Amino acid sequence: MNILVLGSGGREHALAWAIAQSSSADELFVAPGNGGTAQIAHNVSDLDAESGDAVVAFVRQHAIDLVVIGPEAPLVAGVADAVRAAGVAVFGPDAEGARLEGSKTFSKEFMVRNGIPTAGYGSFDNAEDALAYACEVGAPLVVKADGLAAGKGVIVADSLEVAEEAIRDCFAGVFGTAGSRVVVEECLTGPECSLLAFVSAGEALCMSTAQDHKRAFDGDTGPNTGGMGCYSPVPIVTDDELAEMQRIMQLAAAATAREFSNDYRGVLYGGFMLTPEGPKVLEFNARFGDPETQVVLPRLENDLVEVMLAVAEGRPGDIGLSWSDSWACGVVLASAGYPGSYQKGKAVSGIGHAEALEGVTVFHAGTTMNPDGGLVTSGGRVLCVTALGDTFESARAQAYRACGLIDFEGKQFRTDIGYRASIGRSAWGN
Ligand code: AMP
Ligand code: GLY
Repeated sequence: MNILVLGSGGREHALAWAIAQSSSADELFVAPGNGGTAQIAHNVSDLDAESGDAVVAFVRQHAIDLVVIGPEAPLVAGVADAVRAAGVAVFGPDAEGARLEGSKTFSKEFMVRNGIPTAGYGSFDNAEDALAYACEVGAPLVVKADGLAAGKGVIVADSLEVAEEAIRDCFAGVFGTAGSRVVVEECLTGPECSLLAFVSAGEALCMSTAQDHKRAFDGDTGPNTGGMGCYSPVPIVTDDELAEMQRIMQLAAAATAREFSNDYRGVLYGGFMLTPEGPKVLEFNARFGDPETQVVLPRLENDLVEVMLAVAEGRPGDIGLSWSDSWACGVVLASAGYPGSYQKGKAVSGIGHAEALEGVTVFHAGTTMNPDGGLVTSGGRVLCVTALGDTFESARAQAYRACGLIDFEGKQFRTDIGYRASIGRSAWGN
C-alpha cells in the first residue's frame, strides 16, 4: 500500500515510524514531514495539507491507498471528507466529527447530551454575560476560547480578576476568531490522564493511558507548552478509574455513530481529570496526542497499518489491540526560549549515539535536513527522546541518559518527566 501522512511534528514522525514497520507499507509520503521523517519516507514540502482538493490531487497522482491525518487543522478543514468522497481510505474523522475538538461548546453539548461526566459550564458570545456567569460561579474557574487556539486558549483563573482579564482578552481577539465565543467552566482538581481510543463504526478500542507535562519547567511551573514529555502507562490510575474512562470513551464512540451523519473513523483523544467524584472529561481531541503518540505507539504490538485500515473501513471487530509490558518515557528537547520566541538553524548532533542505547528511539519534531545532509533545528519542540524499560524508573533513566548524548545550542528540557508517577495519590489531595 502507498500511504500519505499529513503533518510535521513528533507525532507524525512516530506515526510514520510505526507505519514504516508494517509489511503492508510500500511507498510512504509525509507532507510536509521533518528531518526525521525524511530518513524513512518521502517528505512532500509543496502540498497544502489543509486543502482537500490538493490532497486528493496528490492521492490520485501517487496512487495513495491510505491517508493518515495527524493534526487537527486539516480535520477541521474537511480534508478527510474530501479524501473519503474520492473513494480512498482515510484515517481521521470528517469535519463534523472534528468539531469535538474544533468547538468547545459543540464538545460540551455533546458530552452533556450523552451523559459524559465533565465540568459544569456556560457558553457565551459576549463578555458581559460571560462575566456575570463567572461572578455567579466564583473563582477558581477556567476560561476557554471556543475554537482552535494552538493549545493556548485555556486560562485557569485563580481569581475573578484573572478570569475577567481572560474573558476580555478572548473577546478582544487575542486568540483570533477562536475567542469570539467563550466557555467558562468549573475548575476541577486531580491528576490528569489521557486515554486515546481508535474509534470506528461506533466502537472505541482504547489504547494505553499516558500523561503529558504541559508546563515548560520542572515541577509543573512556567508557561503552557505543546507538551514537554510523557509516559505510559500511568500507574496512579486505579482499575476502577480505568474502567470508568473506558466506559466513557465507549459512550462517546457510540454517540458519534448515532449523531454524526458520517461515521467517526480515527482517534478520539479523551483528556481526563481524575476528580474525587471520578474521572471527568476536560476535552476531546479528534486526533492522536503529541507527545502521547511518541510513548504509546512504541508499546503497541499490532501492525499499525492493519489497525488504521480497519478503522478507516469501519471494521472495528477485526482489531484486537495488544500492548507490550514495557514502560515508556519520552522527554522533549526544546529550543531555548520555547514556548516563546526561539532561534532556528542550530546543528543537532548525537542522535545516533542516543539511539544506540537499548530501547531508545528519537522522534523528530522541529528538525530539518539541510541539502548537505546536516540536521538543524527548525521548531520550538525539537526532538522527543523515548525509551522503553522493564520498569518506569529504568525507562526514565534510559531516556535521560539518551538526552545527555544529544546536543544543540540552547537545548532545554525538563528534568522531572514522570515525577507524578512516583509521588502517589496523596500529593494530589484526592
Ligand atoms: P484543555 O485544552 O481543555 O485540555 O485544557 C488545557 C489544560 O487546562 C488541561 O490539561 C488542564 O490542565 C487545564 N484545564 C482545562 N479544563 C480544566 C478544568 N475544568 N479544571 C481544571 N483545569 C482545567
Ligand atoms: N498532548 C496534548 C495534545 O496533543 O493535545
